Amino acid sequence: MKASNFSCLVTAGPTREYLDPVRFFSNASSGKMGYALASAAAARRWSVNLVSGPVCLAPPSGVSLHRVVTAADMESTCRQLFPSCDLLIMCAAVADYRPVSTERRKIKKKQESLEVHLEATRDILKALASEKRHQLCVGFAAETDHVDAHARKKLRDKNLDWIVANDVSRAGVGMEADDNCVRLFSRTGESTSFGPAPKSDVAEFILRSILGPK
Ligand code: CTP
Repeated sequence: MKASNFSCLVTAGPTREYLDPVRFFSNASSGKMGYALASAAAARRWSVNLVSGPVCLAPPSGVSLHRVVTAADMESTCRQLFPSCDLLIMCAAVADYRPVSTERRKIKKKQESLEVHLEATRDILKALASEKRHQLCVGFAAETDHVDAHARKKLRDKNLDWIVANDVSRAGVGMEADDNCVRLFSRTGESTSFGPAPKSDVAEFILRSILGPK
């Protein structure tokens, strides 16, 4: 479907899981891939909601931007937007763990070592995809090894229609770079590689592969 009332929900960037008011656990995601996807989706005249963790990027034009900080914020925003979307692309690098508690005051440097207890965050994509009706669900798999095997496992375990695998150990592509190199796997078993190429071209490749040409 490519009608102008087609609705796309894209997530981008990292999440932050705070230990105290000034310290947090996060990751190196720049948000560039998710923003490129949102921009490519808006260029197709789709209705686009972009749920973004903290990044230093200008919002693409024609996109509704929802800023979030934590994995829990991202989950609640996505839960509100998911029922009315036709395509979910979960590009965000959601933190897998968060501190069990967040101190209200800055932790003072009193001891030689500090133990921090972490608990798992909920898997947003898995939870949403388990409730999908008409939606197409697309995940990303950031891997450093056994890229294809891990990506195929995530595709199955999270009940996805497509997964975009990228090898984040390769120099010059991936999380913080302007370029990406991906392999797209479908639920039906096909896979296609693309790149290295600018993230805007990778975004076009992903949308074209999933929903056909503009
Ligand atoms: N994801 C999510 N919620 C989480 C963790 C991940 O929705 N708490 C989504 C990501 O946005 C991505 C996909 O799940 O689309 C895979 O994320 P990735 O970090 O590659 O893998 P994990 O499932 O977290 O597994 P692992 O860290 O063991 O590779």
